[in-house]
Amino acid sequence: MTQRVNIVPAAPEDMKRLSEIAEICFPDPWSEKLFTEAYNSPYSEIVLAKTDSGEIAGYLVLSDSGDEKSVDDIAVLPEYRRAGIARTLLESAHGRYAGQSFILEVRESNAPAIALYMSLGYEQVGFRKRYYRNPDEGAVLMTRTART
Ligand code: COA
Repeated sequence: MTQRVNIVPAAPEDMKRLSEIAEICFPDPWSEKLFTEAYNSPYSEIVLAKTDSGEIAGYLVLSDSGDEKSVDDIAVLPEYRRAGIARTLLESAHGRYAGQSFILEVRESNAPAIALYMSLGYEQVGFRKRYYRNPDEGAVLMTRTART
């Protein structure tokens, strides 16, 4: 079943909640400070997937990396997963930046995320050994080439 969400830009008062969501979703979560830095950077943007009741179900952090868009962070709260929310967040970014390529790194053990990215046209272009800590593991580098 898909969950209806509204994709909206984050506001300064969302940073604390984003760090709480990251804490639930990641072994090495972004802090409130890191979210705030991304929010304040002219090269980054944070978009939210909000339910009709206004709850933040998920978020996406994008940044500019040369001519490409980098997916720096994406997460959906466990109770909202497998309802198409991460897909909606990414498809909306692909639509906003049609014509640009997207790049990202993902933990090699993160099968759900790798499946998500592959379903949206990302392909593995590299691998970095022992890239992540807590736990130590490699990063799969993926790219979605620009669609013209
Ligand atoms: N197992 C297998 N495939 C999965 C999957 C899982 N657990 N979760 C997502 N997918 C794939 C499927 O192809 C799915 O399509 P389908 O449901 O029609 O089969 C597609 O991705 C879209 O899934 P969606 O419902 O949009 O994903 P989501 O909203 O549940 O969010 C994550 C996916 C990865 C963002 C979410 O699991 C999460 O927040 N994980 C923790 C944080 C994280 O690992 N972020 C990525 C860091 S690189």
